[in-house]
Amino acid sequence: TTEPGDRAAPGSGPARTRVALDRRTLRTDRWWVPPLLTTLGLATFVVYATVRSFMREGYWDAENHYLTPFYSPCLSESCVPGSSHFGTPIGELPGFIPLAFLSLPFLLGFRLTCYYYRKAYYRSVWFAPPACGVAEPHARYTGETRLPLIVQNAHRYFFYAAVLITVINTYDAVLAFGGERGVGIGLGNIVLLVNVFFLWCYTLSCHSCRHVTGGRLKHFSKNPIRYRIWTQVSKLNVRHMQFAWITLGTLVLTDLYVWLVSTGTITDLRIVN
Ligand code: FES
Repeated sequence: TTEPGDRAAPGSGPARTRVALDRRTLRTDRWWVPPLLTTLGLATFVVYATVRSFMREGYWDAENHYLTPFYSPCLSESCVPGSSHFGTPIGELPGFIPLAFLSLPFLLGFRLTCYYYRKAYYRSVWFAPPACGVAEPHARYTGETRLPLIVQNAHRYFFYAAVLITVINTYDAVLAFGGERGVGIGLGNIVLLVNVFFLWCYTLSCHSCRHVTGGRLKHFSKNPIRYRIWTQVSKLNVRHMQFAWITLGTLVLTDLYVWLVSTGTITDLRIVN
């Protein structure tokens, strides 16, 4: 048996109990700053995205054909004319259902189960643990072996849905080059393009994408094409955390831009036509 304070003998694996301390941590640095910033960043995005998803205004700029990603694809008869790039197979939706109700749950699932975001919110929201050398408040640890966290294992399936939704966002961005005046380029086009560029970086740098492209291979030499793709995905994968944060920013900025332009608060800066 082990007593509180026991340490494992070298090479015998981790101790089963914690070192008995009369305080939560011996760290004297500001270890709480990174989890606090993470919480603030995630909370800001969640509040903004939730409010915007239910607003039902300022999501389609009819003049320039800008559609915010928060309302794509818009498949309901409740969508304003022009914003439904794939028709309206769904009837009117009550106000408590977001118009992008088909894509939002998958995007939410993709982000929530993302390996990077897991690390971020396990530390900053659940304090499990909040930082290295800082004890967690939970008495037991069951990992991702039971509900609800066992759902994290569905990440690879959310990845396939996210690829499809990113294709749709790309299609929206391409269509936006043809506004009411015909083909042209405005600042909104650049904003939409930059957003989809980083969405692709985030999606393709996903750990599941890395596994899809190069996993379960016994010999890379016998699969040179998959090896090549896996190598490129691995280079992106190194920056997955950065892409996770950048895309939260580009999504908000893109939506904000479309909102401001479509409501006439600002005028789209035209570059060509
Ligand atoms: Fe982050 Fe898949 S999206 S690991």
